[in-house]
Amino acid sequence: MAPLSKLPFEPRTLDLDALRQRSVLFAALSNDDAWELISQARVENAPAKHTVCEAGQAGDSLHIVMEGRVKVSLLSEEGKEAILSILGAGEVFGEMSLFDGEPRSASVTTMEPCRFLVLRRQAFLPFLQDRMHVMLELIAEMSRRLRATNNLVGNLSFLNLSERLARILLNLVQQYGKVTQQGIVIGLKLSQEELGHLVGVSRESVNRQVRVWIDAGLIEYDHGTIIVRNSDALFREALAS
Ligand code: CMP
Repeated sequence: MAPLSKLPFEPRTLDLDALRQRSVLFAALSNDDAWELISQARVENAPAKHTVCEAGQAGDSLHIVMEGRVKVSLLSEEGKEAILSILGAGEVFGEMSLFDGEPRSASVTTMEPCRFLVLRRQAFLPFLQDRMHVMLELIAEMSRRLRATNNLVGNLSFLNLSERLARILLNLVQQYGKVTQQGIVIGLKLSQEELGHLVGVSRESVNRQVRVWIDAGLIEYDHGTIIVRNSDALFREALAS
């Protein structure tokens, strides 16, 4: 595992307004509270493909993503991966072990070079003590994730591959889509293997479906970059059954 670079950092150099715009946690804080929290945090930089948390290991820190994207996933004993979620700037992870004291519930791996603000349990729990509104924001975020996971389980149980893949692509369009002359470019590179980990099938199965859609003019796929050329048709695929 590549070592993380743990920067000594000068809290006041952080762009609090930018952090506020992206992060529900910081959006809920007054200026004074935000600086108090930042002064107790450390900054960590990690290269792409770095495992930040490993499922089953002890953990007592909360990470706030400042730059880059991470995937939250489960690994089987045979090394198969299931991606539960992709988190980007402003989002937090590590709150589950921090709150319940249990080992990490999933692994978190960087998909790009990332920058995190890291808070230890000893600093964060006392901070929450008399700040109910911040606690409520975190509970709301955990509820959103539970809903998204329910959705994922429902999709895996009830939909076929083309429906699942179409829904994932439309979700990615919503989160990362940028309209260009070629179509809607998804601003997050994903290998066909990673797409398979998002929909619970092999890379080969994803590849077959992707080729069908490329031939039919629905999407383009080039070295991880996905361009949706016909979102209406993709939408129909998502609702096929
Ligand atoms: P923790 O269990 O401490 O470490 C792994 C983290 O991954 C976990 O906290 C959450 O922050 C995050 N996580 C776990 N499961 C999910 C999920 N289903 N959706 C989004 N994030 C998750």
